[in-house]
Amino acid sequence: MRKPEGARVPTGRLRKAPENFVSPELAADITRSGLDDTRRRLLKGSFLAAGAALAAGMSRVAAASGKAPADDPMITQPRPWSTMLGNPVAFHPYGVPSKYEANLQRRQSPGLTPTKQASVAFAPLQGFFGIITPNGLHFERHHQGWVDIDPGQHRFMINGMVKEAKVYTMDDLMRLPSVSKIHFIECGANTGMEWGNAAVPTVQYTHGMLSCCEFTGVPLKVLLDDCGADLKNGKYVLAEGNDGSSMTRTISMEAALDDVLVAWGMNGEMLRPENGYPLRLVVPGVQGVSWVKWLRRIEVGDKPWNTKDETSHYVDLMPDGMLRQYTSIQECKSVITSPSGGQALLGKGFYNVSGLAWSGRGAIKQVDVSFDGGNNWKTARLETPVLDKCLTRFNVDWVWDGSPAILQSRAVDSTGFVQPRYGQLHAVRGTRSTYHNNAIQSWRVAESGEVFNVHVE
Ligand code: MTE
Repeated sequence: MRKPEGARVPTGRLRKAPENFVSPELAADITRSGLDDTRRRLLKGSFLAAGAALAAGMSRVAAASGKAPADDPMITQPRPWSTMLGNPVAFHPYGVPSKYEANLQRRQSPGLTPTKQASVAFAPLQGFFGIITPNGLHFERHHQGWVDIDPGQHRFMINGMVKEAKVYTMDDLMRLPSVSKIHFIECGANTGMEWGNAAVPTVQYTHGMLSCCEFTGVPLKVLLDDCGADLKNGKYVLAEGNDGSSMTRTISMEAALDDVLVAWGMNGEMLRPENGYPLRLVVPGVQGVSWVKWLRRIEVGDKPWNTKDETSHYVDLMPDGMLRQYTSIQECKSVITSPSGGQALLGKGFYNVSGLAWSGRGAIKQVDVSFDGGNNWKTARLETPVLDKCLTRFNVDWVWDGSPAILQSRAVDSTGFVQPRYGQLHAVRGTRSTYHNNAIQSWRVAESGEVFNVHVE
């Protein structure tokens, strides 16, 4: 086994980010009245205060860690849990995380949306290992709240340019030949708050509209064949959801016949209600909005539908003021999740710098990491599996010498596409867009060890 580069230097420790940094009162006030300068100052103040409180707690932990003294009671004395009868089996018929992990939660960004139904809860990327998102921490994005539909009452229909329009029950669908595939899902608005400047403190809020699961379902192609879809004239399909938002998205027939799934399974169990139970569309590589949840209908047609979710939303505002439509592929992107904004390095020494990379156009070929704001780059190790249209975990050794640093990651995908710097993205797309921001993220490590979100053009 190869030794990490820093094996001979002391291993540094990280202080977690103060994830829950806003009091419920301030969050409610911001949600009610929006973000003005005063509230923005309060928000920043709460974040710094939460960091200081965590630092106080961590200094006690830091004092107790490192080289354990020979008489450490944690190792020399029997601990309560080693001398007692443990809990019975099936105490939790459906398992729950340890109470010590209670702070790892998906969270709303205060003031981002006026209601909790048309909103988003971000996944805590800073707390994940590997590439799979636990089902309870998958990000959520709803346009009109989530619903829990009785699968016995759910129907799925295919109509339009088909020989025979058909209606399927869940039982009908789940009897068909299914496949399971691991793919990322990223909202087109992910990192949208960061277009102009560094806006939010942690990776949960900069990049947390991102998740990755093993999805199980029937290929849409099987169902289109079953209904005799007109593949000569039918160039598009429309996917429609069963929730109050009437989410409707046009998808090209090419994608529909390639790897799109009509899915019910997520990480080995049924979809969670928040993620579309009992049926959702999985459109690998394409922005999340096309992954229609609570899927009730697919229509085959010969032109795009130009629905409300394709004209007023999910379009790219270009520098000349025009809007670019149907740019749905999530381009190659990456982010360092540890260390990341809001965390703090508690001492000089070795750090395993870790992050995630992905591309809607294929697999990740390479990730390079810079510690000096993009002047020098070091190639990271890619953890297997490295799959198409899937998150890839990367790691790289770093010995922090205590001086200020700017950490960046830059991914390259199997098409040769290189993740752009902000300067490159701004030159083509301007600074006022919302969607499809795949620029290189920068984290500044201060001499104090604190990590901040910064913008590097
Ligand atoms: N489908 C329906 N029916 N209603 C919705 O509000 N939101 C879309 C998409 N599918 C949505 C939907 C958006 S914008 C995204 S990013 C993804 O679902 C989010 O999926 P998730 O909530 O499972 O993370």
